[in-house]
Amino acid sequence: MCLEQQALSQILETAVVAARLAGQRAMEEINYVKATLKNETELVTEADRRCQQIIVDRIKESFPDHGFIGEEGEPGAIFKRAPRGEPSIWWVIDPIDGTNNFAHGIPIFTVSIGVFHQGRPIVGVVFDPATDSMYAAVQGGEAQLNGRRIEAGEDDMAPTSSVGLDSHFGDPLPLWVGQIIHTSRFRNFGTTALQLAYVAAGGLVGTVVCTPKLWDVAAGVLIAEAAGAIVTDWKGQSLFPIDLDGYEGRPMDVLAANRKVHPKLVAWIGA
Ligand code: IPD
Ligand code: CA
Ligand code: CA
Ligand code: CA
Repeated sequence: MCLEQQALSQILETAVVAARLAGQRAMEEINYVKATLKNETELVTEADRRCQQIIVDRIKESFPDHGFIGEEGEPGAIFKRAPRGEPSIWWVIDPIDGTNNFAHGIPIFTVSIGVFHQGRPIVGVVFDPATDSMYAAVQGGEAQLNGRRIEAGEDDMAPTSSVGLDSHFGDPLPLWVGQIIHTSRFRNFGTTALQLAYVAAGGLVGTVVCTPKLWDVAAGVLIAEAAGAIVTDWKGQSLFPIDLDGYEGRPMDVLAANRKVHPKLVAWIGA
């Protein structure tokens, strides 16, 4: 069963408001951040948790029966509340994507909110508060940046175009990392969600994401697809449907690129 357009619009509206509230709050706090270690390689701040709470509270006002998956649960665990009622809808939240930047006072981070129905993304919002950029898409609709249509375009990999590389590629570095670096400019802005949004807007011709969690990509994948990009795993296989009830933070492999570049990257990476 597909959701009606009106229901999708209400979900989108709520996602936009919640993302803006959280993003503005994070910007107010960025110069006063105290970070702690979440695990050996990852920082977390009070603002991450506060922003997630702001988002969840706002969504609950409009959709008390929906489910939530958020990055910031108890230490070592994700935040999860199963949906009540039908149809079951999950909100997948990354309150600050780019915490490492944020924790160091670098205002390159986003708020990412993806909404899923029957295991597939139906609404995605990525908000970049530093530039007041709201990327958004609804299943079956166009991708937008601040209300205007964006498209992934068809630029090829070239010395003048950029490919996102994000991140944790292991040691030794796979061969294809060198292939990308030698063919194009490579970029890692430190927020996966923003890199997917940049693929949607054509600023990146593609982005390769290594072991993201669902909340890193939940919104960006729909926005990139709605903009005409192809989004798959590294072998070119579809990412969805995904079992949200059973999702406990399993890492994924994600490749998003415009139609010209995607098959080339799959040939390098998926081989
Ligand atoms: C991180 C960012 C980063 C990516 C990491 C993610 P967080 O998310 O998306 O770009 O390389 O793998 O964990 O922890 O800042 O929300
Ligand atoms: Ca993240
Ligand atoms: Ca985060
Ligand atoms: Ca994190």
